[in-house]
Order: sequence, then C-alpha cells, then structure tokens
Amino acid sequence: MLIYNSPRGTSDYYGEDIKYIDFITDTAKNIFKIYNYKEIITPHFEHTEVFTRSIGENSEIVQKEMFTFPDKKGRSLTLRPEGTASVVRAIVEHKLYGENLPLKLFYIGDMFRYERPQKGRMREFRQVGIEAIGSDGPSIDAEVIWMINNFFKNLGFKNLLLYVNSIGCRECREKYIEILEDYLKPFGKDLCHDCVNRLDKNTLRVFDCKTSGCKKILENAPKISNYLCRKCEIHLRKVFGLLKVLDIPYVHAENLVRGFDYYTRTIFEVISTDIDSAQNALGGGGRYDNLIEEFGGPKISSIGFATGLERTMLLMKDLDIDIEEPGKNQKKIYVINMSADFDEYLFGILKFFRQNKIICDTNFNIKNVSKEIKWAQAQGYSHIVVIGENEVDTNKLIIKDLDNYTQTELNWINEKSRLLKLLR
Ligand code: HAM
Repeated sequence: MLIYNSPRGTSDYYGEDIKYIDFITDTAKNIFKIYNYKEIITPHFEHTEVFTRSIGENSEIVQKEMFTFPDKKGRSLTLRPEGTASVVRAIVEHKLYGENLPLKLFYIGDMFRYERPQKGRMREFRQVGIEAIGSDGPSIDAEVIWMINNFFKNLGFKNLLLYVNSIGCRECREKYIEILEDYLKPFGKDLCHDCVNRLDKNTLRVFDCKTSGCKKILENAPKISNYLCRKCEIHLRKVFGLLKVLDIPYVHAENLVRGFDYYTRTIFEVISTDIDSAQNALGGGGRYDNLIEEFGGPKISSIGFATGLERTMLLMKDLDIDIEEPGKNQKKIYVINMSADFDEYLFGILKFFRQNKIICDTNFNIKNVSKEIKWAQAQGYSHIVVIGENEVDTNKLIIKDLDNYTQTELNWINEKSRLLKLLR
C-alpha cells in the first residue's frame, strides 16, 4: 500500500518536539506580556501584492521563494513568507493606529518559503515575532533588541552574537547605493552571475552573497556607515548607547543588509556561534519607517523582529538545553479499571478528578494490569488507582503513590476534601 510522506521541507511535530514548542512559545508570550505586547492573528495567505509591494519585487523571497497560486476566480494569492507585511495590512485595514502609539503586537505562526530544504531551513516553518507600530525614536529600537536578547537568554542560550547595522533612510541609502555601484562595476565578470544581476536590480543584496570571490571584493567595498545622513547617524549612535546601558553586547556589522526592501535605518540579527552553518540566524528584524504609508495608512514609523521556532528548537536540542516542562511536578493519576462493567463508577471518578483539574487518564482497552502499571510508571504518572468489584461496592479507593510505594485508602464519596488534598 502506498504510504505518503509529508511534502519536502515540511515536518510533523509530536512527543518531545511539542514540549520544546510549548516552552519556546510560552517563554515568548511571557516576555511579550512583560513588555506590554498583545497578540494578533492574521491569515496564512494574502493577496500576492501585499508581499510584492512590501518585501520588494526584486528580493530573493518574491523572485524565488513564494508559494503563489490563483484562487478559483483567478485572483493571485500567496502563502505568507513572513509576518510583517500581513500585520501592516491588518493595521491599515482596521485602522488600528489610535492615539496611543506605539501599538505593540506579537504573533506566532506558520510561514512558507520555497527554499532548498536543509537542517534549519524549511519550506513551512514557524515564526515568533513582534511589531511596534508608530515609534520613530531610537529608544524603541533598543527596547526591541533588548526583548529579542531576553527571549533567547530566557530560553537558556549562552553563545549568541547580536549584529546591528543601519541601512539609512531612503535618501542616504540611495546615495550610498550609487557609490557602491561605482565601486562594484569595474569588477565586472569577477562578480558571480547572481551578483551581476543584483547590481542591476537590487545592489545591496550583494552583501548576502556566499561566494568567496564576491566576499573578497566586498571586503574593501565602501561601508554604509560612512554615508549615513546626520539624522541616521545620530539614531544609530543612540541605539548603541542604550544597548551599552542595558549591558547587551553587540557587533556593528557594517555589511549586514537583510533581505527585505521595507527596512530603513536600524536592522539587526541574532546569530548563534554554536552553529557552523549558513542557517545560524535565530532571529532578525529592523525598522520600517515608510511601509504603513505605502499601504495607505498614515506616515508612522515602526520596528519589529521575528525568530525562527524550528531553528531555535533544533539548536536547543543540539546544545542539550534543558526545558522546564510546565506542570512537571504536578500529580498525575492513572486509573486502571478491571472490567467494563465498572465503567459507570469509573466515569464518576474521572468526572470528579477532571472537574477539579487533576490530570488523570485511563485505558478503555486494558488487557494486562501489571503491564499497565509499568506503562503508567514509565509515562511519569505519580499515582495509580485500581477499580475492582470491592471498590464499586464500598466507594472505596486505594491510591498508590508510585514514587514512594505508599498507599492510602479512603471513601471517595465521603472524603472528597481528603482525596483532593492528597492529589494536589
Ligand atoms: P527573517 O530574517 O526573514 O525576517 O526571518 C526571521 C527568522 O525566521 C530567521 O532568523 C530564521 O530563524 C527564521 N527563518 C527564516 N526562513 C526560514 C526557513 N526557511 N526555515 C526555517 N526558519 C526560517 C523576517 O521574516 C522579518 N519579517 C522580521 C521582521 C519583523 N522585521 C521586522 N519585523
């Protein structure tokens, strides 16, 4: 019989993975709450233009990586490759920008990019991200970077590098691009085929090139930091100053450009030095001062970041980072019913436990009691309760503590508070 595999670049998650996913998303939500961020949920697909206009027609994502398809009426739709464009579309559509700016939002969800899959690079992956809408000063940049830094620290990471750069505002960047093009053009055929194209369409992307020849040429390329206008320069210096106050180590990565056209001024990336691969970016973000206006909203500046859930999980596993499982020390009861004839009695007990939020389970297909007890022990149950004829006749329960092999006998109808005390 034909067995289907999940499509290339996608994954199923179960068992241990779910513990990691819960731990990562719970940690994120706790931090975002502390910084006063509220959740937003947007669709998994949007009109294609939402992404082409924001990420940029000539970006790698739009050119090569989008899952785009027509709907039944021929309208072009795209599975979201990232979250920022959708959040901005939603904010403008619902006029969420009120008087109390910044509007602080977070999201957790699936993204889709048609990339060549490898470890840490998938076609369907999850991002945990935030957007601070309506914030133009450098202080929010520092606060957002502080938050991404705290997120990874709280997850237990130690060897992280924070790269920060500014790609300037529209004006200083345009001037810089001309200077960069003047520098690169004479190299002509020494540049790789992709970089020749980039020079034509999206010059800044040459800094993403991985070929050693282009990397060498770029070593001596003019740096954008030398061409920032005065306002952009002051902005970046202030961000650096605030990061120092917060004791957050950073590297001024003058060749960092990031792959989205919407960015202005501050951009950043968190890299793990424990991963020796191109997929070492755990998260990244930046400021986007024109995007909301370009989507038909008011002229308000914003900044945000996104982190990759799978990359984070993979690295936590590789580094043996322990996770605190929520409810790990909570008592868990396994109820073993000796006969289906006692199901009504069993359901009464299960109902009582579950109404009182006590974790419990049973097996309706039980075949072998001693195997069942061993299984319950291996699954981390703290107590077992066996239901037999005697129990049903007398309302008696014998609760066995699997950790210290003691047992307590009580009448569960008359001694409910004693039972609850024992199990909480
Ligand atoms: P990004 O750098 O493209 O930024 O993605 C953020 C993170 O998502 C990456 O650092 C990486 O961990 C993860 N990621 C990206 N692509 C893949 C993939 N194919 N497989 C697995 N993980 C991946 C953004 O998406 C921007 N929207 C961030 C942002 C928010 N900027 C401003 N606001």
